Amino acid sequence: MKLTFYGHGTFLIEAGGRKILFDPFFTGNPVAKDVNLDNITADYIFVTHGHGDHTGDVVNMAQRTGAVCVGSAEVANWLNKNGVEKVHGMNHGGFIPFDFGKVKGVNAIHSSSFGDGAYAGNPMGFVFNTAEGDFYVSGDTALTMDMQLVPLWAKLTFSVFPIGSNYTMDVQDAIHASDFVKCNTVVGVHYNTWPPIAIDTKKAIADFGKAGKTLLLPAVGGTIEL
Ligand code: NI
Ligand code: MN
Repeated sequence: MKLTFYGHGTFLIEAGGRKILFDPFFTGNPVAKDVNLDNITADYIFVTHGHGDHTGDVVNMAQRTGAVCVGSAEVANWLNKNGVEKVHGMNHGGFIPFDFGKVKGVNAIHSSSFGDGAYAGNPMGFVFNTAEGDFYVSGDTALTMDMQLVPLWAKLTFSVFPIGSNYTMDVQDAIHASDFVKCNTVVGVHYNTWPPIAIDTKKAIADFGKAGKTLLLPAVGGTIEL
């Protein structure tokens, strides 16, 4: 599997023969200024919640790529109303088949509304099963006991966790989360975009190392193999 980071909570995972873009936010993203959107193709766009730093460019990218957008039923309805035709609305619980594998929506402790004030349903994370491997994208969330359920559904190759604190988990809680989900390889996101979520990345990597874990922090525009 491959992961390309685009800054903040935006990244693209290639798995199961498909390209899956998460939470597209480029316009107004101070760390994504040099990303060329013309170079991004996607088969699916998964949306964890409605906040602008996760949905700012979802309509734009859906129209550019023709990707199917997947998110809560409320997110899917909002996208329909805003000019996106190909949507798959879902909610927590079911293991949903796609052409790249299966996805389960799981709990995230956060809030969720769109920039225009529209209700966006409950925020969620996604557990993926693919022929190439399993992974978990938590979305914006605090540490939650519900993460202990994830090993019921997946033998994770990697997890993508927010680590910037203030709005989400910090580094220490992301380490606890990696214990909860039984996965020692973590891709850190949602940090160093703005001052409230600035972190010491060297210390973060060292703290994961002390816990016997690996924190991967790909550069913006960088691709890693997992
Ligand atoms: Ni958020
Ligand atoms: Mn966010």
